[in-house]
Amino acid sequence: VMAGEPVNVNEFEELAREALPKMNYDYFRGGAEDQYTLKENVAAFQRILFRPRVLVDVSSIDMSTSILGYKLSAPIMIAPTGMHELAHPEGEMATARAAARSNTIMVLSFSSSKTIEEVASSSQAVRFYQLYVYRQRDIAVTLVQRAERNGFKALVLTVDTARLGRRELDIRNRLVIPSIRNLEGLLSVEIDPTAGSGLEALASQVMDTSLNWKDIEWLKSITSLPILIKGVLTAEDARKAVEVGVAGVIVSNHGARQLDYSPATINVLEEVVQAVEGKVPVIFDGGIRRGTDVFKALALGAQAVMVGRPVVYGLAARGEAGVVRVMQMLKDELELTMALSGCPTVKDITRRHVFTESDRLR
Ligand code: FNR
Repeated sequence: VMAGEPVNVNEFEELAREALPKMNYDYFRGGAEDQYTLKENVAAFQRILFRPRVLVDVSSIDMSTSILGYKLSAPIMIAPTGMHELAHPEGEMATARAAARSNTIMVLSFSSSKTIEEVASSSQAVRFYQLYVYRQRDIAVTLVQRAERNGFKALVLTVDTARLGRRELDIRNRLVIPSIRNLEGLLSVEIDPTAGSGLEALASQVMDTSLNWKDIEWLKSITSLPILIKGVLTAEDARKAVEVGVAGVIVSNHGARQLDYSPATINVLEEVVQAVEGKVPVIFDGGIRRGTDVFKALALGAQAVMVGRPVVYGLAARGEAGVVRVMQMLKDELELTMALSGCPTVKDITRRHVFTESDRLR
């Protein structure tokens, strides 16, 4: 048990656990099946070490960067995570205000507990909208139009969720999901509250499992927003994504909630970066808990990272202020890491600043 205020992001997880009912905490924390990938997402970072450079003038550190032309105070964004009301009554509105105060981009989840309109009116943060495609395609059309009308700047199409991964904590807890407000009036499904995970029950009825590469053309035809593809883990898919003309690739295994025994994302980042050949930005998520993790992802070629669980733990523990604190902790740690590695700007961070297991085998 912790005395006083948390001093790092991991300690926010403990506060969140104390603050939340078990069902809610388990929803945020859990991964798929054996949770091998869940552990690995974090553990793989611990096998990457630094090659710090010395006697560089680090009297001023500039962490700023830009994504699709939008300036960020640091290369750390907010990943789309569902149902923030399970963490805090103000839900995504608090998260969006925290994103604005942190000068970063928030990706709003398709499965948000607040509406697109509520989130848009709650802050000036640059926001992207994360999309799932249901068999009922008119739902995507409607939601994309609403996101555009409300000033969202890009679409993040999540492609690793044709079906929902088997999250056994949610099955055991019989997870009851609050209403997904954006879907009100668009969708009617019956969910049996005694039958296991409510989220699984919903997904299995509505997800379009036929979605494939050809549908990117369809998505482009219904929007003028740039499209990023979230959930790429191989060079093959990275090349396909570039071919079909997406604006960015997001290396992600959905926080280990989908296919268990997918590799830790940090272990496949370099493969994807090499396949993309600089044609579009590569964004990274999965297991970021420290500023050192952010630095490692940048060294392996990511333009920015996104954080999922740490944000909801901050929200659960302290609401908007908790999210701001989590983002600030990561930024402070990144700044220190840059100083101690001899990198005054993010452009100074190179592949030669880290040492991975594959380097050891070479
Ligand atoms: C997610 N993630 C996710 N992704 C997405 O595209 N749409 C979604 O609705 C959700 N929902 C969601 C809920 C919760 C509770 C978690 C933990 C994750 C995945 C998320 O965007 C991101 O890929 C991971 O969270 C990154 O890993 P970390 O930072 O949680 O380790």
